[in-house]
Amino acid sequence: MAMIAHKCADHTVTVVDINQARIDAWNSAELPIYEPGLDEVVKAARGTNLFFSTDVDTAIREADIVFISVNTPTKTYGVGAGRAADLRFIEKCARKIAQVSEGDKIVVEKSTLPVRTAESIKRILEANSKGRNFQILSNPEFLAEGTAIADLQNPDRVLIGGDQTPAGLAAIQKLVDVYAAWVPREKILTTNVWSSELSKLTANAFLAQRISSINAISALCEETGANVDEVAAAIGTDSRIGPKFLKSSVGFGGSCFQKDILNLVYLCEHFGLPDVAKYWEGVIAMNDFQKHRFARRVVSTLFNTVSDKKIAVLGFAFKKDTNDTRESAAIYICRDLIDEQANIAIYDPKVCAKQIHQDLAVTDENPHVTICADAYEATKDAHAVLILTEWDAFKALDFQRIYEEMQLPAFLFDGRNLLDLDQLNQIGFEASGIGQG
Ligand code: UDX
Repeated sequence: MAMIAHKCADHTVTVVDINQARIDAWNSAELPIYEPGLDEVVKAARGTNLFFSTDVDTAIREADIVFISVNTPTKTYGVGAGRAADLRFIEKCARKIAQVSEGDKIVVEKSTLPVRTAESIKRILEANSKGRNFQILSNPEFLAEGTAIADLQNPDRVLIGGDQTPAGLAAIQKLVDVYAAWVPREKILTTNVWSSELSKLTANAFLAQRISSINAISALCEETGANVDEVAAAIGTDSRIGPKFLKSSVGFGGSCFQKDILNLVYLCEHFGLPDVAKYWEGVIAMNDFQKHRFARRVVSTLFNTVSDKKIAVLGFAFKKDTNDTRESAAIYICRDLIDEQANIAIYDPKVCAKQIHQDLAVTDENPHVTICADAYEATKDAHAVLILTEWDAFKALDFQRIYEEMQLPAFLFDGRNLLDLDQLNQIGFEASGIGQG
């Protein structure tokens, strides 16, 4: 929304939330999200044509277009628990829009939703329309965290789905005009609603599948003496495959991949396609395997016990350049090691202690978890160092100093293939990466 405000000076964008603290943060000098370049975009437009408010009713009433961008977590209760998307926030939004709107509205699904959600929104709005005309569009967001601003400035495509009726097509055109302020017209794709909804889930499923595929091969590389980065580079030069998203890792995380694949799995089952469901479920199973495999390797390398040993964890975010920890592989690896009674010392440049405690479901008094102010504090006297997020700053650490302050043998497990293992081994580390047999 900040980007739209920034690029479209003639439109007014009002972002509303019922959470006062969140809105206060958006109106303050310290934004609630760390994202490179976001500060500049927000600060340039804020107060001019970009506003943050808790006055939900007024904002809806005054808007021509309403974007629904609430979260759609995986359901934790009832039918579809653990898989289906929980749509209660979406439904609340739809009811609110129906209740307070005075005129016609275009309602845009921005949240990632299971296929056919637009239909539910539509039925709620139409049942309460009292003569007003509501058009529902699907406009999924493809930005990735950490590169959000660049992705928004220069997207591969913008996808807009809507009814293929004259009123639907007119609504689509209205939203196309907003994006056309900065996105080349040929990159704005228009489809029917269902194609648009399904494309978002499919894009994330394909991306996650690439990571699980290369991670599956990483396990084989470790057994055979092949090197997964070399394999990735070799297959990536095939233009049909391409080089992106082939970086083997401790496993993918983030708010989207797992949730969206589970969603896809649930949909397949719902539509009587258990084999298709199983196929996609394999992507998640492979990712779980990769996370547990890494923790198991740490334990077995450290002479089959980490009990009472200090293990330094560098990086807790699900990837670099974000303070987001949702579904981060680090959470699962730390939990496995805590189960083995290790004492873990965690340092992440952007994730706060409170978040880490919450993710690990421990209090700040738990003797097994210490949050450190820097990498040197975390690694001092440690038996092993784990690199779990590929922060650039970790490449510039003084590994000679780290080595000298560690217990020997000094083990290092690079879960992101970020560091130069030969150099580390020369210093004296027993260093290993992912998929390097
Ligand atoms: C993803 C999609 O990329 C984006 O299009 C969608 O809108 C939201 O979901 P995001 O979750 O922000 O974006 O991050 P992404 O860069 O896709 O990374 C997801 C996870 O995969 C991270 O944990 C990352 O470290 C991991 N990853 C990515 C790898 O392990 N290897 C790779 O080669 C790429």
